[in-house]
Amino acid sequence: MNESQNAAVSAPSADASSSGAANRRARRLVSGALAAMCAAAGLSVWALSAPDQTPAPVGKMVEQLTGANPNPVHLVRPAAAPLSAMAQLGKQIFYDQTLSGSGKMSCASCHSAEHAYGPPNGLPVQMGGPSLTLQGDRPPPSLMYLYRQPNFSIGPDQGDTEEAANLTQAATAASGVARAQKTAGVAPAAPAMVPQGGLFWDGRVDTLQAQAIGPMLNPTEMANPSLEAIAGKLSHSSYRAAFAQLFGQAIFDNPKMLVSEAMFAVARYQFEDVSFHPYTSKYDYWLEGKARLTQAELHGLQLFNDPQKANCAGCHLSKPGKDGLPPMFTDYQYEALGVPRNTALAATKNPKYYDMGICGPYRTDLSKQTQYCGMFLTPTLRNSSTRKVFFHNGVYHTLDEVMAFYNLRDIDPAKIYPRDAHGKVTKYNDLPARYRANIDKSDAPFDRKFGDKPSMTDDDIRDIIAFMKTLNDGYQPDPKMALDQKPQ
Ligand code: HEC
Ligand code: HEC
Repeated sequence: MNESQNAAVSAPSADASSSGAANRRARRLVSGALAAMCAAAGLSVWALSAPDQTPAPVGKMVEQLTGANPNPVHLVRPAAAPLSAMAQLGKQIFYDQTLSGSGKMSCASCHSAEHAYGPPNGLPVQMGGPSLTLQGDRPPPSLMYLYRQPNFSIGPDQGDTEEAANLTQAATAASGVARAQKTAGVAPAAPAMVPQGGLFWDGRVDTLQAQAIGPMLNPTEMANPSLEAIAGKLSHSSYRAAFAQLFGQAIFDNPKMLVSEAMFAVARYQFEDVSFHPYTSKYDYWLEGKARLTQAELHGLQLFNDPQKANCAGCHLSKPGKDGLPPMFTDYQYEALGVPRNTALAATKNPKYYDMGICGPYRTDLSKQTQYCGMFLTPTLRNSSTRKVFFHNGVYHTLDEVMAFYNLRDIDPAKIYPRDAHGKVTKYNDLPARYRANIDKSDAPFDRKFGDKPSMTDDDIRDIIAFMKTLNDGYQPDPKMALDQKPQ
């Protein structure tokens, strides 16, 4: 982006005041603004009515002047349909507190619909167990958009045909292959021989059905003693009749089958109910030409996508797919970022305790593949600014802290990691020293060294956060813009 485009940005801005950079540009801009605005009005009409024929520089100018997307796309959303009987049953199970050992906890306790199906509070991890006094291991991720989560695999393929059976072999084959650099907006040069897909922070489960049984039996979560105990509760539930209707009376004689069908129903609920994948964020509407981004949001998006600056889109993909699938803000791959240790977790009192993601301890099948120690799944950033707890160990509670981590991890580690008894900064303190080579030091913004200039200024950070907030669902699009966009 060059200065003249930058200068043209500011005049019609709705919220230039919220961006210091835009403000300064506004002051610089004395004459020319009116002319630019008139030109913009004409150009916008042209660009927005014939996006395919709009030359790129003109499109950029329209974007800058109006905040509108000069190249609107059609996003493919899943068709909305009434819930099947199976999904309705799943919904009842999802909200049923009697299915827990404490009698006070349901799936919704940790995955709250009002909080993007993430945790309802800022606790680093949720409390569970028979009397709700036990700390969980990790913060609950959002359950939204999981219908697009690919299965866990290692290698270049996105894995729907891959069998998970031979992971160790795949891991060994991949261990000598150089990892592809992640640069926003650039397709990886070499196939990324990295772990990808799967559910949980470490990808240890593939299907929503298999996943749901985990929390039911987990002693620090819903804390049921056995499958039989869950089956007993299901067969005495208020929705008992729905089971009989869907599966026949005999289902109650087979506890294992009963629980398995119940978990299938919960999975169907998450697949079918549109509240799990609405695509109603301001950014979705902007992509479709139905919303304008403010100057701060637009600048934030540019930095987010800029491989020299924040490079967030290198991993949190921001562009719609060729097939019109809305962007998911994750590449579904794993990275070791070296997030600081969270001493608010009771488990960390034990100096030998390390949560190392793919190589354990909660995942056990790849524990010998130490090249993956410290790697966690890249989460979606959709709705992430509604969260009050970030990263796999819940160490941060605000996006400002997250941004400081990305900006200063290697440049000024004393701001990120605590000092030990000798006053030495304990860089990468949540991973044993022997695995620290796994930590990503090549992708921007992590490609900087001690004392380098940070990749983001305070203004940049504020604008990136403003942009991330456009990824929250529930935005009301501008009806007038929707009219402008009626197909020709
Ligand atoms: C006590 C809190 C708690 C309860 C109750 C709970 N979960 Fe979770 N859930 C978590 C945590 C923590 C994780 C992440 C665990 C990990 O990565 O090891 C998680 C992960 C998940 C995931 C994977 C999400 C992803 O992005 O990979 C799904 C799906 C899920 N839970 C569904 C459910 C369902 C369905 C129920 C009810 C049967 C449920 N959860 C009950 C805390 C909870
Ligand atoms: C090299 C890949 C990569 C890049 C580049 C990257 N991220 Fe991430 N991001 C991740 C991974 C992996 C995690 C999870 C790490 C963990 O918990 O240990 C994550 C986690 C996050 C989270 C926490 C989400 C949650 O639900 O807890 C936020 C917010 C975030 N990233 C924002 C950004 C922003 C903003 C940028 C650009 C400044 C960025 N990321 C750049 C890979 C990346």
